[in-house]
Amino acid sequence: MTFKRKPVVAGNWKMNGLKEEGIELARGVVEGSSDLNCEIIVCPSFPLLHPVSEVLENDVKLGAQDCHFEPGGAYTGDVAVSMLVDANCSHVILGHSERRADHGETDDIVKAKAEAAYAAGLVAIICVGETQEQRDQGLTMATISTQLDASVPNEATAENTIIAYEPVWAIGTGLTATPEDAQDVHDHIRTYLKTSHSYEVTEAMRILYGGSMKPENASDLLAQPDIDGGLIGGAALNADSFLAIAKAASDL
Ligand code: 13P
Repeated sequence: MTFKRKPVVAGNWKMNGLKEEGIELARGVVEGSSDLNCEIIVCPSFPLLHPVSEVLENDVKLGAQDCHFEPGGAYTGDVAVSMLVDANCSHVILGHSERRADHGETDDIVKAKAEAAYAAGLVAIICVGETQEQRDQGLTMATISTQLDASVPNEATAENTIIAYEPVWAIGTGLTATPEDAQDVHDHIRTYLKTSHSYEVTEAMRILYGGSMKPENASDLLAQPDIDGGLIGGAALNADSFLAIAKAASDL
């Protein structure tokens, strides 16, 4: 049985943009997305979620960049999943390498956040990826396996979870994994998930590539059999380049 996976293109805006810029960017994405055959998600910073949600149409979805695993309470600076739902989010990025490196986020924390996201009805976009040092030491697959083991909940399904493979050395550097190298890791992710999740779940699960994906390299990456879309940083800050990637995904 072959599984047809609908491509996903998600824009991680990171810590960029003020309200009016976010609204303009979101409007540009909405305008260009009406006849694209892929899922499109924009993930602005927390303060932009509400204003951006008000201009989203054409089934463009809203995602946050993080959440807390507790439902509420004395967690200064954190945001609960219920607040994300209240802001019309359907998705949340979890375990991004910038959170892992800059905020001490461990696999266990990522898993707890994913469980909280599921309980709130959010789709978790769970990020994994190796550093340059781990790659140089031949530890790419082992690193990814460890991260998947400890950060993807048993309850993960193709409906509530998207995996994003983001080699840390490719993020914001202009360096991109070759399509073949990225495909090897994506194939490893799908195969490895089969040790803990059913064949049907893992065949249907979308696995995105992230790390300097741009209009110029998107088609070659997306042509790989296990690359089901992209998690885009820099190129998502411009509606035209983001939409060019979405068009490449939509043409698959
Ligand atoms: P860049 O596309 O800027 O390399 O960022 C990728 C990323 O981290 C998306 O989450």
